[in-house]
Amino acid sequence: MLRLFPGPPEEVALAGLYLADAVHTLGSSAAPFVYASFVGSLDGRIASRDPSTGFSRLPVEIINENDFRLFLELQAQADCLVTHGGYLRDLAAGRLDDVLQIGTHGVGRDLLRWREEKGLPAQPAVVIASASLDFPMPESVVRQARRVLIATGRQAPQDRVEALRAQGYPVIVAGDGASVEGAPLVRELGGLGFRSVYLLTGPRMLSTMLRDGALSRLYLTIAHRLMGGEDFHTMTAGPRLEGAGRLRLSSLHYDATAPDGAGQWFARFEPLRPAG
Ligand SMILES: NC(=O)c1ccc[n+]([C@@H]2O[C@H](COP(=O)([O-])OP(=O)(O)OC[C@H]3O[C@@H](n4cnc5c(N)ncnc54)[C@H](OP(=O)(O)O)[C@@H]3O)[C@@H](O)[C@H]2O)c1
Repeated sequence: MLRLFPGPPEEVALAGLYLADAVHTLGSSAAPFVYASFVGSLDGRIASRDPSTGFSRLPVEIINENDFRLFLELQAQADCLVTHGGYLRDLAAGRLDDVLQIGTHGVGRDLLRWREEKGLPAQPAVVIASASLDFPMPESVVRQARRVLIATGRQAPQDRVEALRAQGYPVIVAGDGASVEGAPLVRELGGLGFRSVYLLTGPRMLSTMLRDGALSRLYLTIAHRLMGGEDFHTMTAGPRLEGAGRLRLSSLHYDATAPDGAGQWFARFEPLRPAG
């Protein structure tokens, strides 16, 4: 792989690239380091809807092992993974693979040992963001010795909040509507002692984090491929982001081999705080 920025260009190994960022050391309880990653096509697609099933998923054309290795390196550095109700519903229905466990995938088996060496618990905590609170609790999540928490808004169905608390899950209320808002969620997670928070969520959570100035870093893989198609998702949802969408590139790598020999960029961005 070639590091293009910062220059001068230099050949570097793919494995270990994101571990070298030491994301797990960058935050504190007062200011957790909140990071997200996406993989998309050159025309901005992060998911497309399968017309036969009606469900959206990551396009197979852009999935590849090199990107997945780097995804697992980011996951391994988290104190806490934030997922959401929609993902748990897809997982339960067998529509998506389980990406909530460290060390279970071939290209990332070494990462359990890496966490142990860094003094981190084997599995990061899981925070499930949901407005509906209508999701199954996967056996693979609760089986692990790990903290599992729920995050929701003040207007979420109270009977479900109480039912989850009765089952022993702490419920964080972060936001005045039904949905979780970025800044209050990050504050609550910091208060619980989490220093590195990895968002395994989608466009809605990324957008609320950006709007609230609560995102510390965005990792973006851009597959050199145009996908086209009518029914797709992009990385954002909701109103225009205006200034909250400004990012500064802090590194760029070029992998000429994947996906499918077309090539891809691994870009790392830091959100710019609004002036003043
Ligand atoms: N290519 C990539 O890197 C990438 C990354 C992420 C996602 N994707 C794909 O993009 C598509 C859309 O993503 P998505 O499903 O994550 O869409 P989304 O519209 O961002 O989130 C869907 C669900 O997440 C919960 N949720 C999200 N934000 C929330 C918030 N602020 N507060 C409370 N609940 C919240 C809600 O669950 P409840 O209904 O339970 O309230 C909602 O139904 C999917 O196909 C996904 O697989 C691709």
